[in-house]
Amino acid sequence: MKRLILPAVLCLALAGCGGSPDTPGAKAAHDRHENFEAIGKAFKTIGDELKKGAPDLAAIKTQATKINGFAPQVKDWFPAGSSPKDGVKTDALAAIWEQPDEFGKAAARFAEAAAALDAAAASGDLAAVRGATGPLGAACKSCHERFREKD
Ligand code: HEC
Repeated sequence: MKRLILPAVLCLALAGCGGSPDTPGAKAAHDRHENFEAIGKAFKTIGDELKKGAPDLAAIKTQATKINGFAPQVKDWFPAGSSPKDGVKTDALAAIWEQPDEFGKAAARFAEAAAALDAAAASGDLAAVRGATGPLGAACKSCHERFREKD
């Protein structure tokens, strides 16, 4: 028993050890990681389609709607207890919790750009879709530059 308990205690002390979501904060970090991965995949699919000679508008619409479904939630993905200062395994920077107004603005800008892309995809106008991906990509990038750990 002792041999099992000790590593478990060490894991708690070092906070991480694979990031098993066993506190509400760690669970929040785990869930947002999954969601951002999904957003990343969706946005990549759109980019890949747009590179094709004949982009699949239906596929673009599906992914744009997915991103637009996530985007308004982003501001709620960083509850107290899920910051790096809480010992949670995360690439989120403490600045998110220290500058909530600025982070809120970045999240709002993202939600706006995601809604615009979704509307453009719904209109079926490829030029409009292309035009809307720029501001969305910029919204990802500016938030990452400020609020996410560099790779
Ligand atoms: C308002 C801020 C914000 C916006 C906007 C945003 N992200 Fe992120 N993103 C983050 C943060 C913070 C993390 C790190 C989360 C963590 O590790 O807890 C992250 C992580 C990720 C990850 C890696 C998964 C992970 O957790 O390491 C991917 C992929 C990603 N984002 C893609 C995107 C894409 C694509 C967009 C735009 C379509 C986007 N993000 C928009 C803040 C943002």
